[in-house]
Amino acid sequence: MVLAFAHTLAVLTETQLPIVLAALAQGTVAAMITRYASLAPWWPGIQFVFPVALVTFGALQLPSWIFLVAFLLLLCLYWTTFRTQVPYYPSSRQAWEAVNALLPVGRALRVIDIGSGFGGFAMHLAQARPESEVTGIELAPLPWLASAMRARFRRSRARFIRGDYEKLDLACYDVVFAYLSPAAMPSLWCKAKSEMRAGALLLSHEFPIPGMAPDITVHPVGSGPALYGWRIC
Ligand SMILES: C[S@@+](CC[C@H](N)C(=O)[O-])C[C@H]1O[C@@H](n2cnc3c(N)ncnc32)[C@H](O)[C@@H]1O
Repeated sequence: MVLAFAHTLAVLTETQLPIVLAALAQGTVAAMITRYASLAPWWPGIQFVFPVALVTFGALQLPSWIFLVAFLLLLCLYWTTFRTQVPYYPSSRQAWEAVNALLPVGRALRVIDIGSGFGGFAMHLAQARPESEVTGIELAPLPWLASAMRARFRRSRARFIRGDYEKLDLACYDVVFAYLSPAAMPSLWCKAKSEMRAGALLLSHEFPIPGMAPDITVHPVGSGPALYGWRIC
C-alpha cells in the first residue's frame, strides 16, 4: 500500500516520498492491520516501530556482521519459539522458594524443570534439597549451555539435559516444574496425565491449566504470579 502510494505520488507530482515518512506510513498501516486482526496488545507497537528502526539502523551504516551476530545470539536463545510458543523469561527467587516450601522434607525426590532456561531454579533446588535429584531439560542451545557451565562452575548437583520435554517420559519424576506459557498448558496436561505416576506433582508457575482447578495454589511471598499444583491420581 505504501509503495503504491509512493509510486502514485512520484508519477503525479514528481515528488519522492522521504524514506522516513514511508517508514512511518508503513508502521502505521501495519499497526492498524495488526489491531484489526486482534493480535496480542504489544504487536501494534512492535509493528509500528519495526520499519522506523530498520531505516534508522540502515542509516547508521553498521558493518553487516553485527546483524549476523545479533541474529545468531537471538536464534540460540529463542531457538524454536515460533513452534513451542514458549520464549525464555526467568522465574523469580520467590517462586523457587515457594516450590521448595511445598515439597516434603527429608524425602529424596526426583524433580525436573521442563524448560530450565539458564538453570537458576534447578540449581537453587539442588542446593536446598541435597537428598533429591534435580534435573533441567532445555531445548534452546544457549540457555542449556550456560546452565550446564554454571552448574559445573558452582559445583551444583543439578543436571542439565539438552532436549525437548515433549519427547521425555515424565513417569520417573515425583515433581515436574513448568514455567512455560498459556499455549503450552493443554498439551502438557495431557502428557502429565498419561505419563506421570499417581501421587506425583505437576507444578506450574504463573500459568494455570484451562478447565482444571488446581489442587494447590500458592502466592509467593512478596509480589509475583501464583504457583499452581496438580496431584496426579
Ligand atoms: C519461561 S522460560 C522458564 C525458564 C526457567 N524454567 C525458569 O523458571 O527460570 C521457558 C523455557 O522453556 C524452554 N522450552 C520451551 N519449549 C521447550 C521444550 N519443548 N522442551 C524444552 N525446553 C523448552 C524455552 O527455551 C525457555 O528457556
